[in-house]
Amino acid sequence: PPGFVYKSNKLHVEKIAASDLARRFGTPLYTYSATTIRERFDIFNRAFGKVPHTICYSVKANSNLTILKMLVKLGSGFDVVSGGELERVLVVDKKAAKKVVFSGVGKTAPEMDLAIKSDILLFNIESESELELLASRASKLRKKPRIAFRVNPDVPAETHPYISTGLREHKFGVPITDAALLYAQAASTEWLEPAGVSVHIGSQITDVAPFNATMERVADLVRGLRAQGHNIRLIDGGGGLGIAYRDGDTSLKAFEASAKNYSAALLPPLNSLGIHLLLEPGRAIIGPAGALLTRVVYSKKNGRKTFVIVDAGMNDLIRPALYGAYHEIVAAEPRGTGAETVDVVGPVCETGDFFARDRELTHLEEGDLVAILDAGAYGMSQTSNYNTRPRPAEVLVEGSRAKVVRRRETIKDLLGPER
Ligand code: LLP
Repeated sequence: PPGFVYKSNKLHVEKIAASDLARRFGTPLYTYSATTIRERFDIFNRAFGKVPHTICYSVKANSNLTILKMLVKLGSGFDVVSGGELERVLVVDKKAAKKVVFSGVGKTAPEMDLAIKSDILLFNIESESELELLASRASKLRKKPRIAFRVNPDVPAETHPYISTGLREHKFGVPITDAALLYAQAASTEWLEPAGVSVHIGSQITDVAPFNATMERVADLVRGLRAQGHNIRLIDGGGGLGIAYRDGDTSLKAFEASAKNYSAALLPPLNSLGIHLLLEPGRAIIGPAGALLTRVVYSKKNGRKTFVIVDAGMNDLIRPALYGAYHEIVAAEPRGTGAETVDVVGPVCETGDFFARDRELTHLEEGDLVAILDAGAYGMSQTSNYNTRPRPAEVLVEGSRAKVVRRRETIKDLLGPER
């Protein structure tokens, strides 16, 4: 991907050699290309042209404060799913609250209170019980939050079952068929203002047809709700646009085409509605803008198999272990001495702790540096301290400048809460 390119046989993050970054900041190390983040945000934004819209970047994909700050400067709003994510946004810029949407099936009273007081743009309600709790918190605080229901359109989307969300049997949202009653109920509380309709059908979706089918259903619902007298002016289309992890074209041009294809699927059903569209991309913005640098600790043969053991583990990047996800792995300084079929694995005590299985890679030796690409989304944000492993540092690169945007954890950080 752009931002991660070879110059004289050395992988660079923008203008800095990956090997220099690894030497300066240690491994495993998350590295991000600031230019790539900016360009991808702009490309996504431009794909919706003059249609009134706000991008509410999905904080869960990568919640680093410095990255959130960059996005604020680009005019982004935010999709949050917890009080903690909302606090991150508020720490970065209190005024950004007015562009925050709050999703999630399990919002608690304290989380609601914080969001109500912050006067966020929209609550996406996912159940009747949540509607009742939110109304009672709002009446206590004497405020009237804007709400949408996250409807479940019952549209299948081709992706990993763990990240597909738009079917009737999933835990998310309310059945679209129950929506009319729920909006009436919300309006009757007098403490909630029905202002929008929200959907999210899943993540890493590369065929855009389901987005179109979803918007058809949402548009029908909006017409019905307006006829009932609700002032619906927002549609939150959720996130989900996939990226090319494997064998795809990772250029910005290709992303531009994909973003245009996505908007061309989403927009036509909304044509005559005169609504303001909200979008919640996460992966599409940040995925290809990050790579995880890790060093080969050992290599060994067990029977027919060759294992390359690196210093990053599933606690640092869980996507392969959790979803069998594919991430491109490249040598920072390829030796050019023939390909081998290897398993790239981490040091964690689990058979599932792998980054690649039976993968043909250029020959790697102990001490070599490799980069696991497209790790900007759901990489650092899904790390854990399993095996009492400190989380990696994060470095943001812009041109020939590198800035630590999260220091490496220490064992002391990990033990602190138990002392
Ligand atoms: N909006 C809502 C309500 C969501 O639940 C999500 C992601 C997004 C937006 C952003 O979706 P994106 O544009 O990034 O696809 N950990 C998994 C992905 C889980 C996605 C959860 N929801 C992974 O590593 O693939």
